[in-house]
Amino acid sequence: MLYIGVDLGTSAVKLLLMDEKGEIRNVVSREYPLFFPHPGWSEQNPEDWKKAVLEGIPELLRGQDASQVAGIGAGGQMHGLVVLDEHDEVIRPAILWNDGRTQKQVDYLNETIGRDVLSSRTANIAFAGFTAPKILWMKENEPENFARIRKIMLPKDYINYVLTGVHCTDYSDASGMLLLDVKNKCWSREMLDLCGIREEQMPKLFESYACVGTLKKDIADMLGVPETVRVAAGAGDNAAAAVGTGTVGDGACNISLGTSGTIFISSRNFGVDPNNALHSFDHADGYFHLMGCMLSAASCNKWLMEEVLKTEDFAAEQAPITDEKLGSNHVFFLPYLMGERSPINDVYARGTFTGMTMDTGRVEMVQAMLEGVAFAIRDSLEVARSLGIDVKRSNICGGGAKSPLWKKIMANVLNIELDSSESEQGPGMGGAMLAMVACGAYDSVQAVCDALVHVSSTVKPVPEIAERYEKKYQQFKKIYPALKPVFADMAKE
Ligand code: XUL
Repeated sequence: MLYIGVDLGTSAVKLLLMDEKGEIRNVVSREYPLFFPHPGWSEQNPEDWKKAVLEGIPELLRGQDASQVAGIGAGGQMHGLVVLDEHDEVIRPAILWNDGRTQKQVDYLNETIGRDVLSSRTANIAFAGFTAPKILWMKENEPENFARIRKIMLPKDYINYVLTGVHCTDYSDASGMLLLDVKNKCWSREMLDLCGIREEQMPKLFESYACVGTLKKDIADMLGVPETVRVAAGAGDNAAAAVGTGTVGDGACNISLGTSGTIFISSRNFGVDPNNALHSFDHADGYFHLMGCMLSAASCNKWLMEEVLKTEDFAAEQAPITDEKLGSNHVFFLPYLMGERSPINDVYARGTFTGMTMDTGRVEMVQAMLEGVAFAIRDSLEVARSLGIDVKRSNICGGGAKSPLWKKIMANVLNIELDSSESEQGPGMGGAMLAMVACGAYDSVQAVCDALVHVSSTVKPVPEIAERYEKKYQQFKKIYPALKPVFADMAKE
């Protein structure tokens, strides 16, 4: 049988077709626009996602035996607020995970309601990108829209709704709303009340590997697949990527260098970072995870290449960065182009180059950018280490992980071994694997990971380079605290 994995990303949807042995039959990608209507805001039209998926699947299936498709599963960008009216029409563009408009609501939640209260109810505190602060923002700034809300959901849930007509979500994605009691896997009544919403406005909760329903007839006809195709609840993209890289069970780690950069540590047991710098979320395997999320990772590379250096040849820019240059750069880059989430939680933080001299050229600046992202991931890894979590190796995936240089920098900055798996398909592959479990092809998420995920290469840190980076990281760590008041001041303008 065949399974479709949907990776509903921020720049594009990536669709993949896979059989139950893990062979990838086809991959198709469709881009859609991202809107920044004000500085720091970030929105997308759910209809654009729908069009991309509904047009992309027939393209994915061209030349394939579509009658063999048994299941579909999605991993989607997390936290985005999608609101539907009484006719299930989208009320306003989705407010995305990297949108920074809600500082006032975040302050209200964290300071007035209180971090401890939020953490005891949801296992997390408020971050600008989370869904609850956006609901409060809408209530305050768009009361007419707020009054029309009949259903609230997350990006991939909208796709599942389009496919099946079922209003559903899964625990891993719902964890990022600040409305879920993560430990007990149910909506938090207190949090819903606080946001002025009722439980019937929320989607029904499922495990990621559960089947939420089958395709609507008109959709099945449009896609050219059987009506019996089962749709899995799916997962947030990081949990789906973790499944796709076999990061399940206890103490496994995955680093994703996508538009965002994340470090994801799976756990059989529920646990909370006492400072809430790392998110405490449910995992798609039925258990839990801790995660640090930086808002701009591979997007820093894209920005520097395309917007500043005006090139599409990313590899050519990295070619002059040889091993002896690693750990010897005196230029630093803070990668906070969209503010930052983990661990500093500061919407006003900004991207910055520091330490330039007359001999600084584009090579040093490109290197500083790649290193800045690695140092920022290390910030979250250090939080995990401070909790006694001993991460010795990790998987790595995402667009940025396609660069051997960036992987080498990451391995040395973090001083851990980094494994890449055979098919680097992250969330899409995880989505297809969840669909396999939903269709009964495998008994559990662990079983499908054991069968289909294989490490194909490992990058090891080199002691001299790791040592040089250790010194650089200690310097990097001092830059943001020094600039924090400057960023706050700049935000007043
Ligand atoms: C995770 C997060 C991002 C998005 C990117 O908390 O906000 O990784 O899921 O799609």
